[in-house]
Amino acid sequence: MPKTLTRFFCQSCGSEAPKWSGQCAACGEWNTLAEAPNEAPAAGRRSSRSGGYAGTTALQSLNEVQRDATERRATGLSELDRVLGGGLVAGSVNLLGGDPGIGKSTLLLQLLCAIHAEQPSIYVTGEESLSQVSMRAQRLGAGEVALPLLADTQVEAIVEQARRLQPKVMVIDSIQTMWTDALDSAPGSVSQVRESAARLVRFAKQTGTTVFLVGHVTKEGAIGGPRVLEHMVDTVLYFESDQGSRYRLIRAVKNRFGAVNELGIFAMTETGLKPVSNPSAIFLTRDSEPVPGSTVLVTREGTRPLLVECQALVDASHLGNPRRVAVGLDGQRVAMLLAVLHRHCGIAMADQDVFVNIVGGVRVSETAADLAILVAALSSFRDRPVPHDWVVFGEVGLSGEIRPVPGGEDRIREAAKHGFKRAIVPAANKPRRSADGAMEVVCVKRLSEVLDAL
Ligand code: TYD
Ligand code: MG
Repeated sequence: MPKTLTRFFCQSCGSEAPKWSGQCAACGEWNTLAEAPNEAPAAGRRSSRSGGYAGTTALQSLNEVQRDATERRATGLSELDRVLGGGLVAGSVNLLGGDPGIGKSTLLLQLLCAIHAEQPSIYVTGEESLSQVSMRAQRLGAGEVALPLLADTQVEAIVEQARRLQPKVMVIDSIQTMWTDALDSAPGSVSQVRESAARLVRFAKQTGTTVFLVGHVTKEGAIGGPRVLEHMVDTVLYFESDQGSRYRLIRAVKNRFGAVNELGIFAMTETGLKPVSNPSAIFLTRDSEPVPGSTVLVTREGTRPLLVECQALVDASHLGNPRRVAVGLDGQRVAMLLAVLHRHCGIAMADQDVFVNIVGGVRVSETAADLAILVAALSSFRDRPVPHDWVVFGEVGLSGEIRPVPGGEDRIREAAKHGFKRAIVPAANKPRRSADGAMEVVCVKRLSEVLDAL
């Protein structure tokens, strides 16, 4: 094959350079130039570019464009469907990222085995041997499924096989092992990953195949090193877990066909991943006796309310600069809340170390956690437990006011469902209908009222 010339693109600003250099001449960033093939002849380049949606260059007005209804096919894995926004979309490219060993290959193999009968699929592995994959399928109880497997890493060959087989769903495990003829650089390099992904995206759009790309997460936490992959695909899913926990959280950080920040929860078992449909139950550690420094908060992951336990430990500090440590929460916010508590309620923790933790490895980034953080910290500070059957949520403003949060009624309902008896909530989140009588709702406007309620 004749050697094609290559060009270099800056990963940061996108400008083009004829040869590699350490620093991008346009934006000044270091180590951002990456190789890309030079599909030189103008006609050739154009046809390759129009491979995707750009079949026509004629102008059309918005209201006359023919809209393809995005057809969704449920996968049967309820938690995955939730994250994808209802199911698989034909022609979509989905990137699944996560640490090694978290269960990416397991999830996708399980998925394909489950849907293969209705939606013909193909599993391409560049990391494991076919016998390894088959042994895993055996473990998943799917050893007898006639799923086509392919052990290859060369994109053109894979695409050719796929065109022959015409699957509805294709899994590429992983994109980092793929390489294309068009580039001279080594497999795994930024440009190879990018170009291989581009070819697979083109294939997906042309044929309407749903493609899953497995991506390894680098030390910096990005999939495949550069963020380029995230721009090219339709959905970006992250698979994560707490160290040593058997629960796996899957989260969409980008979704062209649905909401982001939906959370799907699986448990890793002896026989693969099992969807967890009632996640609140797993994040609550119910001690038999209430202990100081712990309170339950209702947070929201996507559209689903989730009960999690917020713990705080407030202890006399021997340091000139007492520590503020937050796990699963924003540390700056904790410091701010403690300042509000001091200024508006006169409770000083300036000589105390404050540690706050969300149990179960969930990250809570919404402000509804504010009130729970303060209640947990106060409970620890005063060594007085918050009763077992209370839940708390609400945003705390800088002037000590308690602000409403979205989805108040849903949250209260979720807490009632799990047997909680009392909820401390922002006044503006007061439910319109008084909920099922079992639940007492205490509405608060100011932080001082919360102290009274405790
Ligand atoms: P794997 O899917 O290979 O992870 P990744 O592709 O993300 O690197 O997951 C491997 C881990 O999952 C391994 O440590 C064993 C565990 N596992 C189970 O606990 N139960 C199972 O049924 C399977 C197949 C794997
Ligand atoms: Mg794997």
